[in-house]
Amino acid sequence: MNKRMHAIVKYIEPGRGLIDVGTDHGYLPTWMASHGYHGNIIAADINAAPLQKARENAEKAGVTDRITFQLCDGLEQCKPESVDTIIIAGMGGDLICRILDLAEWCMDRRYKLILQPMTKSEVLRYWLTNNEFEILAEDLVPEGGNLYQLIVARFGGSTRLSDGELFLGKKQICTDWELYEQQRQKLIKRFEAAIAGMEKNAAGAGLPAHRLYREILEDLERLG
Ligand SMILES: C[S@@+](CC[C@H](N)C(=O)[O-])C[C@H]1O[C@@H](n2cnc3c(N)ncnc32)[C@H](O)[C@@H]1O
Repeated sequence: MNKRMHAIVKYIEPGRGLIDVGTDHGYLPTWMASHGYHGNIIAADINAAPLQKARENAEKAGVTDRITFQLCDGLEQCKPESVDTIIIAGMGGDLICRILDLAEWCMDRRYKLILQPMTKSEVLRYWLTNNEFEILAEDLVPEGGNLYQLIVARFGGSTRLSDGELFLGKKQICTDWELYEQQRQKLIKRFEAAIAGMEKNAAGAGLPAHRLYREILEDLERLG
Protein backbone atom coordinates (compact mmCIF):
# COMPACT_ATOMS: atom_id res chain seq x y z
CA MET A 1 0.00 0.00 0.00
CA ASN A 2 1.50 3.28 -1.07
CA LYS A 3 0.71 6.76 0.22
CA ARG A 4 -1.90 7.30 -2.51
CA MET A 5 -3.76 4.12 -1.48
CA HIS A 6 -3.59 5.07 2.22
CA ALA A 7 -5.09 8.46 1.35
CA ILE A 8 -8.04 6.66 -0.25
CA VAL A 9 -8.51 4.39 2.77
CA LYS A 10 -8.88 7.46 5.03
CA TYR A 11 -12.23 8.21 3.35
CA ILE A 12 -13.69 4.71 3.75
CA GLU A 13 -16.17 4.51 6.62
CA PRO A 14 -17.51 1.34 8.23
CA GLY A 15 -20.58 0.31 6.28
CA ARG A 16 -22.38 -2.09 3.99
CA GLY A 17 -19.58 -2.63 1.56
CA LEU A 18 -17.07 -1.26 -0.89
CA ILE A 19 -16.13 -1.92 -4.47
CA ASP A 20 -12.70 -1.18 -5.88
CA VAL A 21 -13.15 -0.74 -9.63
CA GLY A 22 -9.97 -1.38 -11.61
CA THR A 23 -8.41 -3.07 -8.61
CA ASP A 24 -5.33 -4.34 -10.51
CA HIS A 25 -3.04 -5.76 -7.77
CA GLY A 26 -5.96 -5.75 -5.34
CA TYR A 27 -3.90 -4.05 -2.60
CA LEU A 28 -6.77 -1.91 -1.37
CA PRO A 29 -9.37 -4.71 -0.92
CA THR A 30 -6.71 -6.94 0.64
CA TRP A 31 -5.67 -4.20 3.05
CA MET A 32 -9.28 -3.47 4.02
CA ALA A 33 -10.00 -7.17 4.58
CA SER A 34 -6.86 -7.51 6.72
CA HIS A 35 -7.56 -4.40 8.78
CA GLY A 36 -10.95 -5.07 10.27
CA TYR A 37 -13.36 -3.77 7.64
CA HIS A 38 -16.56 -5.74 8.18
CA GLY A 39 -18.63 -4.86 5.11
CA ASN A 40 -18.68 -6.59 1.73
CA ILE A 41 -15.48 -6.19 -0.25
CA ILE A 42 -15.54 -6.39 -4.02
CA ALA A 43 -12.48 -6.26 -6.24
CA ALA A 44 -13.40 -5.65 -9.89
CA ASP A 45 -11.29 -5.44 -13.00
CA ILE A 46 -11.95 -5.60 -16.72
CA ASN A 47 -8.86 -7.71 -17.32
CA ALA A 48 -8.29 -11.28 -16.15
CA ALA A 49 -4.54 -10.98 -15.45
CA PRO A 50 -4.80 -8.15 -12.87
CA LEU A 51 -7.74 -9.84 -11.20
CA GLN A 52 -5.69 -13.02 -10.91
CA LYS A 53 -2.90 -10.95 -9.33
CA ALA A 54 -5.44 -9.51 -6.90
CA ARG A 55 -6.56 -13.05 -5.99
CA GLU A 56 -2.98 -14.14 -5.38
CA ASN A 57 -2.26 -11.13 -3.17
CA ALA A 58 -5.43 -11.75 -1.17
CA GLU A 59 -4.43 -15.38 -0.82
CA LYS A 60 -0.98 -14.45 0.50
CA ALA A 61 -2.68 -12.30 3.13
CA GLY A 62 -5.16 -15.11 3.92
CA VAL A 63 -8.26 -13.03 3.10
CA THR A 64 -9.50 -14.53 -0.22
CA ASP A 65 -12.78 -15.63 1.37
CA ARG A 66 -13.52 -12.03 2.45
CA ILE A 67 -13.33 -10.65 -1.11
CA THR A 68 -15.62 -11.11 -4.11
CA PHE A 69 -13.73 -10.92 -7.39
CA GLN A 70 -15.59 -9.60 -10.42
CA LEU A 71 -14.23 -9.77 -13.96
CA CYS A 72 -16.23 -7.03 -15.67
CA ASP A 73 -16.37 -3.56 -17.15
CA GLY A 74 -16.72 -0.96 -14.40
CA LEU A 75 -19.69 -1.45 -12.10
CA GLU A 76 -21.66 -3.74 -14.39
CA GLN A 77 -21.65 -6.77 -12.05
CA CYS A 78 -21.95 -4.80 -8.83
CA LYS A 79 -25.21 -5.24 -6.93
CA PRO A 80 -26.21 -1.76 -5.74
CA GLU A 81 -27.47 -3.11 -2.40
CA SER A 82 -24.12 -4.72 -1.58
CA VAL A 83 -22.07 -1.52 -1.33
CA ASP A 84 -22.12 2.07 -0.10
CA THR A 85 -18.60 3.05 -1.14
CA ILE A 86 -17.36 3.12 -4.71
CA ILE A 87 -13.64 3.51 -5.31
CA ILE A 88 -12.30 4.18 -8.78
CA ALA A 89 -8.61 5.02 -8.72
CA GLY A 90 -5.64 5.14 -11.04
CA MET A 91 -7.56 5.76 -14.27
CA GLY A 92 -8.18 8.70 -16.54
CA GLY A 93 -10.95 11.10 -15.50
CA ASP A 94 -12.79 10.45 -18.76
CA LEU A 95 -12.83 6.69 -18.16
CA ILE A 96 -14.12 7.23 -14.61
CA CYS A 97 -16.97 9.35 -16.08
CA ARG A 98 -17.81 6.58 -18.54
CA ILE A 99 -17.92 3.97 -15.76
CA LEU A 100 -20.24 6.18 -13.67
CA ASP A 101 -22.38 7.04 -16.69
CA LEU A 102 -23.11 3.34 -17.21
CA ALA A 103 -24.18 2.84 -13.58
CA GLU A 104 -27.06 5.23 -13.05
CA TRP A 105 -27.83 3.61 -9.70
CA CYS A 106 -24.83 5.36 -8.14
CA MET A 107 -26.70 8.66 -8.55
CA ASP A 108 -28.11 8.22 -5.10
CA ARG A 109 -27.13 9.79 -1.77
CA ARG A 110 -26.44 6.32 -0.34
CA TYR A 111 -23.15 6.02 -2.21
CA LYS A 112 -19.91 7.72 -1.44
CA LEU A 113 -17.59 7.98 -4.41
CA ILE A 114 -13.84 8.04 -3.82
CA LEU A 115 -12.24 8.90 -7.13
CA GLN A 116 -8.60 9.28 -8.00
CA PRO A 117 -8.15 10.42 -11.61
CA MET A 118 -4.63 10.19 -13.06
CA THR A 119 -5.47 12.59 -15.88
CA LYS A 120 -8.36 14.80 -16.99
CA SER A 121 -9.60 15.58 -13.49
CA GLU A 122 -11.33 18.63 -15.01
CA VAL A 123 -13.51 16.32 -17.13
CA LEU A 124 -14.44 14.35 -14.03
CA ARG A 125 -15.27 17.48 -11.96
CA TYR A 126 -17.35 18.77 -14.87
CA TRP A 127 -19.22 15.47 -15.06
CA LEU A 128 -19.82 15.36 -11.30
CA THR A 129 -21.03 18.93 -10.97
CA ASN A 130 -23.27 18.60 -14.02
CA ASN A 131 -24.85 15.43 -12.68
CA GLU A 132 -25.84 16.87 -9.31
CA PHE A 133 -22.97 15.44 -7.28
CA GLU A 134 -21.59 17.36 -4.39
CA ILE A 135 -17.82 17.35 -4.11
CA LEU A 136 -17.23 16.77 -0.40
CA ALA A 137 -13.45 16.76 -0.28
CA GLU A 138 -10.40 17.33 -2.43
CA ASP A 139 -7.13 15.78 -1.39
CA LEU A 140 -3.67 16.01 -2.90
CA VAL A 141 -1.15 13.26 -2.32
CA PRO A 142 2.52 13.87 -3.06
CA GLU A 143 4.35 10.73 -4.08
CA GLY A 144 7.31 9.94 -6.30
CA GLY A 145 7.49 13.50 -7.62
CA ASN A 146 3.79 13.48 -8.57
CA LEU A 147 0.84 15.18 -6.94
CA TYR A 148 -2.14 12.85 -7.10
CA GLN A 149 -5.66 14.27 -6.94
CA LEU A 150 -8.36 12.59 -4.93
CA ILE A 151 -12.02 13.61 -5.17
CA VAL A 152 -14.73 12.50 -2.75
CA ALA A 153 -18.30 13.01 -3.94
CA ARG A 154 -21.89 12.12 -3.18
CA PHE A 155 -25.04 12.55 -5.26
CA GLY A 156 -27.64 15.11 -4.29
CA GLY A 157 -25.86 18.37 -3.86
CA SER A 158 -24.71 21.24 -5.91
CA THR A 159 -21.13 22.26 -6.27
CA ARG A 160 -20.41 25.20 -8.55
CA LEU A 161 -16.92 25.40 -9.94
CA SER A 162 -15.23 28.16 -11.90
CA ASP A 163 -13.11 27.29 -14.96
CA GLY A 164 -9.93 27.20 -12.90
CA GLU A 165 -11.57 25.17 -10.14
CA LEU A 166 -12.51 22.48 -12.67
CA PHE A 167 -8.78 21.82 -12.96
CA LEU A 168 -7.82 22.50 -9.37
CA GLY A 169 -10.81 21.76 -7.19
CA LYS A 170 -12.24 24.11 -4.55
CA LYS A 171 -9.73 25.47 -2.08
CA GLN A 172 -12.23 25.58 0.83
CA ILE A 173 -12.64 21.78 0.78
CA CYS A 174 -9.03 20.93 -0.03
CA THR A 175 -7.31 19.24 2.90
CA ASP A 176 -3.91 20.85 2.35
CA TRP A 177 -3.62 24.48 1.20
CA GLU A 178 0.15 24.25 0.69
CA LEU A 179 -0.25 21.39 -1.76
CA TYR A 180 -3.18 23.24 -3.34
CA GLU A 181 -0.84 26.16 -3.98
CA GLN A 182 1.78 23.82 -5.48
CA GLN A 183 -0.83 22.37 -7.82
CA ARG A 184 -2.08 25.86 -8.73
CA GLN A 185 1.45 26.96 -9.68
CA LYS A 186 1.94 23.79 -11.72
CA LEU A 187 -1.28 24.46 -13.64
CA ILE A 188 -0.42 28.12 -14.18
CA LYS A 189 2.90 27.05 -15.76
CA ARG A 190 1.09 24.47 -17.91
CA PHE A 191 -1.37 27.05 -19.26
CA GLU A 192 1.31 29.70 -19.74
CA ALA A 193 3.34 27.22 -21.80
CA ALA A 194 0.29 26.18 -23.86
CA ILE A 195 -0.61 29.82 -24.54
CA ALA A 196 2.99 30.70 -25.47
CA GLY A 197 3.01 27.71 -27.83
CA MET A 198 -0.14 28.97 -29.55
CA GLU A 199 1.24 32.47 -29.84
CA LYS A 200 4.30 31.25 -31.75
CA ASN A 201 1.95 30.71 -34.65
CA ALA A 202 0.53 33.93 -36.10
CA ALA A 203 -3.00 32.47 -36.31
CA GLY A 204 -2.75 30.84 -32.90
CA ALA A 205 -3.58 33.94 -30.88
CA GLY A 206 -6.91 34.25 -32.70
CA LEU A 207 -8.06 30.72 -31.97
CA PRO A 208 -11.06 30.17 -29.63
CA ALA A 209 -8.83 27.79 -27.63
CA HIS A 210 -6.40 30.67 -27.04
CA ARG A 211 -9.15 32.81 -25.50
CA LEU A 212 -10.39 29.91 -23.41
CA TYR A 213 -6.88 29.11 -22.14
CA ARG A 214 -6.36 32.76 -21.23
CA GLU A 215 -9.63 32.77 -19.28
CA ILE A 216 -8.63 29.61 -17.40
CA LEU A 217 -5.20 31.05 -16.66
CA GLU A 218 -6.69 34.31 -15.34
CA ASP A 219 -9.01 32.32 -13.11
CA LEU A 220 -6.14 30.14 -11.83
CA GLU A 221 -4.21 33.31 -10.98
CA ARG A 222 -7.23 34.66 -9.12
CA LEU A 223 -7.63 31.47 -7.05
CA GLY A 224 -4.43 32.10 -5.07
C1 LIG B 1 -3.43 1.71 -13.50
S1 LIG B 1 -4.41 0.47 -12.81
C2 LIG B 1 -4.96 1.20 -11.29
C3 LIG B 1 -4.92 0.20 -10.18
C4 LIG B 1 -5.39 0.71 -8.82
N1 LIG B 1 -6.80 1.04 -8.83
C5 LIG B 1 -4.56 1.88 -8.36
O1 LIG B 1 -5.11 2.98 -8.20
O2 LIG B 1 -3.35 1.71 -8.15
C6 LIG B 1 -5.89 0.49 -13.77
C7 LIG B 1 -6.68 -0.82 -13.69
O3 LIG B 1 -7.98 -0.55 -14.18
C8 LIG B 1 -8.41 -1.62 -14.96
N2 LIG B 1 -9.48 -1.11 -15.83
C9 LIG B 1 -9.36 -0.33 -16.92
N3 LIG B 1 -10.57 -0.05 -17.45
C10 LIG B 1 -11.49 -0.66 -16.65
C11 LIG B 1 -12.90 -0.76 -16.65
N4 LIG B 1 -13.64 -0.17 -17.59
N5 LIG B 1 -13.51 -1.47 -15.68
C12 LIG B 1 -12.77 -2.09 -14.72
N6 LIG B 1 -11.43 -2.05 -14.67
C13 LIG B 1 -10.79 -1.33 -15.61
C14 LIG B 1 -7.14 -2.12 -15.66
O4 LIG B 1 -7.25 -3.45 -16.08
C15 LIG B 1 -6.10 -1.93 -14.55
O5 LIG B 1 -5.96 -3.10 -13.78
